[in-house]
Amino acid sequence: MQNVEEAIRLLTEGEVVAIPTETVYGLACNALNINAVSKVFEIKNRPSFDPLIVHISSLNEVEKYAVYFPDPARKLAARFWPGPLTLILPKKGIIPDMVTSGLEYVGLRVPNHSLSLELLKNLPFPLAAPSANPFGYVSPTTANHVKDQLGTKIPLILDGGPSVVGLESTIVMFRENSPPELLRLGGISADSIRDLIGEIKVNIASHSKPHSPGKLDKHYATTTPFRWYSKSFDINSDGSRCGALVFKDHLKGIPKDNQIVLSESGDVNEAARNLFSSMRALDKRNFSVIYAGDFPQSGLGAAINDRLGRAIH
Ligand code: TXA
Ligand code: MG
Repeated sequence: MQNVEEAIRLLTEGEVVAIPTETVYGLACNALNINAVSKVFEIKNRPSFDPLIVHISSLNEVEKYAVYFPDPARKLAARFWPGPLTLILPKKGIIPDMVTSGLEYVGLRVPNHSLSLELLKNLPFPLAAPSANPFGYVSPTTANHVKDQLGTKIPLILDGGPSVVGLESTIVMFRENSPPELLRLGGISADSIRDLIGEIKVNIASHSKPHSPGKLDKHYATTTPFRWYSKSFDINSDGSRCGALVFKDHLKGIPKDNQIVLSESGDVNEAARNLFSSMRALDKRNFSVIYAGDFPQSGLGAAINDRLGRAIH
């Protein structure tokens, strides 16, 4: 566990360390140290208006950082933490404004990964961590993804194996005197949230000044142009320089070798797990365009379609 000790030392000194989580890898720092937080924004090239999620070790820590923790939020936390759920709650003053981009709310999450939990349990501060990719690019689900893009910019990447969920957390916001809102689809389906707390307003459309900038239109994007197959592929054209990302069946007109099937058995959870690494793999092959096939909307399918839709350009 040499690396965990090293991570603890670096984080305590105000450095930035990439950490594994079950959703995607995060670029972590001491959330209460604004010098460390500013390094994260700089390394990611992230605009200062896009707030960071604060990672904590357990539900018992929520009240250190939030002034309001209503019953439905508590219920969600009790059911899904550690796990791919972020709660946005009215914040306490101890959370620096830089972390929340000046918003009066803080995003809190307990990640479900043994290494990250070990870090959080041994540190006297919470960890602010956005996904460990340059702003606007596909999120990383392995230590190598992080190394490829940010390896020279950070002193340590904790390797905890591939992220098992593969999609970022689902974000639910609780404001005083207004009903909860679902701000980002993610590793927990909207239906699982509804099953526990009832109907919830979904507010994931993009806005020019979003509550949750993960909702910005172009995000999670490959460098190679990325299109919906059904809307834009001309079956008569030469598919040899095209790549494709498909759910379980190959697309017509594109060589099979150029296609990545996300789940041969048609399992959306497996497809979610493979999504970002497959987008990265296709992006490295110098295709003139990558096509996305149709994905189901059920379960995590909705979040997969959301990410694909934002990657289209
Ligand atoms: O699964 C995840 O959530 C991963 C892992 C590392 O925990 N993190 C992640 O962070 O996806 P990031 O920064 O790539 O996306 C976080 C999203 C952003 O769209 C941000 O705007 C939103 O959460 N967010 C964070 N704090 C917020 C706040 N106080 N109010 C509204 N949205 C917030
Ligand atoms: Mg991100």
